[in-house]
Amino acid sequence: MAERGHFPFFDCAYQGFATGDVDRDAYAIRLFVDRGFELLVAESFAKNMGLYGERTGCLHAVCKSSEVIPQVSSQLNRLSRATISTASAYGAKLAATVLQDPRLYEEWLLSMQDMSRRIKTMRDALRDKLVALATPGSWDHVSQQIGMFSFTGLSKQQVDTLRNQYHLYMTDDGRISVAGLNSHNIDYVAQSIDAVVRSSV
Ligand SMILES: Cc1ncc(COP(=O)(O)O)c(C=O)c1O
Repeated sequence: MAERGHFPFFDCAYQGFATGDVDRDAYAIRLFVDRGFELLVAESFAKNMGLYGERTGCLHAVCKSSEVIPQVSSQLNRLSRATISTASAYGAKLAATVLQDPRLYEEWLLSMQDMSRRIKTMRDALRDKLVALATPGSWDHVSQQIGMFSFTGLSKQQVDTLRNQYHLYMTDDGRISVAGLNSHNIDYVAQSIDAVVRSSV
């Protein structure tokens, strides 16, 4: 990035969901800041605060000099005014309350650890069940990937069959939301994937 003079723009939509620790998940951004980059970070609180649909997040601008802050700020205000007029406030107020109250902030950090642990448990459980069913193929990638989603490797045709015949919904490229798996549905999901993979080999 430095060699080619690129301007970094980070899309941070799942902070805390990869490792369970917001600081560890911010490693890449801090590395760039430490190396002297100016950069932008688009941060979403949709997932890590469960504020889907509230359009809650923020844009961080890291500048080398505090003198440029008024200019950056006025440009962002102009863009925001022209595109969305007024940002929705409800979710932002909830996020600000959690981030500014030490007790709520601690609780939020702990619930993120729970959430990322649960996701990891579900990844391992899905992999183990597919292995136990001897579903054709290798499934280690399901537990090796990190974060809320998993690329299963299922084809568009297999995804269509899962959607139409088993009512399992995922994106056409085979990406599933691991957060949607739980102890009540995981057997059904594994058995359905097994049946569809077998019928197409
Ligand atoms: C990588 C990534 N960036 C951004 C978003 C959007 O976040 P928001 O819903 O806060 O606009 C998502 C998910 O919806 C995402 O997966």
